[in-house]
Amino acid sequence: MHTAAARNTAPRPGPEVMAAFEAAKGFMPADEGLALYGAASEAARTGLPLLEVGTYCGRSTLLLADAARAAGVTVLTVDHHRGSEEQQPGWEYHDASLVDPEVGRMDTLPTFRRTLHAAGLEDHVVALVGRSPQVAAVWGGRLGLVFVDGGHTDAHATADYEGWAPHLAEHGLLVIHDVFPDPADGGQAPYRIYRRARESGAFAEVAATGSLRVLRRTGPGL
Ligand SMILES: C[S@@+](CC[C@H](N)C(=O)[O-])C[C@H]1O[C@@H](n2cnc3c(N)ncnc32)[C@H](O)[C@@H]1O
Repeated sequence: MHTAAARNTAPRPGPEVMAAFEAAKGFMPADEGLALYGAASEAARTGLPLLEVGTYCGRSTLLLADAARAAGVTVLTVDHHRGSEEQQPGWEYHDASLVDPEVGRMDTLPTFRRTLHAAGLEDHVVALVGRSPQVAAVWGGRLGLVFVDGGHTDAHATADYEGWAPHLAEHGLLVIHDVFPDPADGGQAPYRIYRRARESGAFAEVAATGSLRVLRRTGPGL
């Protein structure tokens, strides 16, 4: 596990990227963002693409993209851009400004594109617009990092884990957001895939920051 001293020497995004992250719509606090950036910087040294499930408006994508730019690799970010259950009208995380009035449904893709463009990071990201399991089923390449921050039901989190973890190269990093061991702090689906990864024997935990967990693939398995 990383110590506080190790975190102090960890790579950090530049101030413009950090300011763009802070200004972007999204849910990730800065300490978790810095931990994600550190994992992405390390994983990018494999030379393999970094994959995010759950683009939303690009808040976390900015950090992955900056780390990818520094290493000359590409970020792939998957989202159907229609929002998760808790982002629909009437739910806690709904943002009415993200509804497409013509279609009558959430559409976070335009905001995501503006976020990335304003930060000058468009060239380092490929947006995959679709349902995560469907995209995973047709994806054939190896990945240096898989960041799971998509749907938070058991069905979605499990499908994300089972769809994308097999593509993670040996020594690649699996990062899971919203891991809450105590049910009083939040939903349990991300915690359950985190436990599953640990118990599989194929992953070892390398860092924990807030609700973000970083695990390294140490062998084959799921
Ligand atoms: C918690 S948000 C992602 C937040 C983002 N990573 C950030 O830091 O700002 C979850 C996103 O996952 C997307 N999502 C949920 N289920 C999905 C699925 N099965 N396939 C693709 N995207 C999905 C939603 O549309 C939503 O934008």
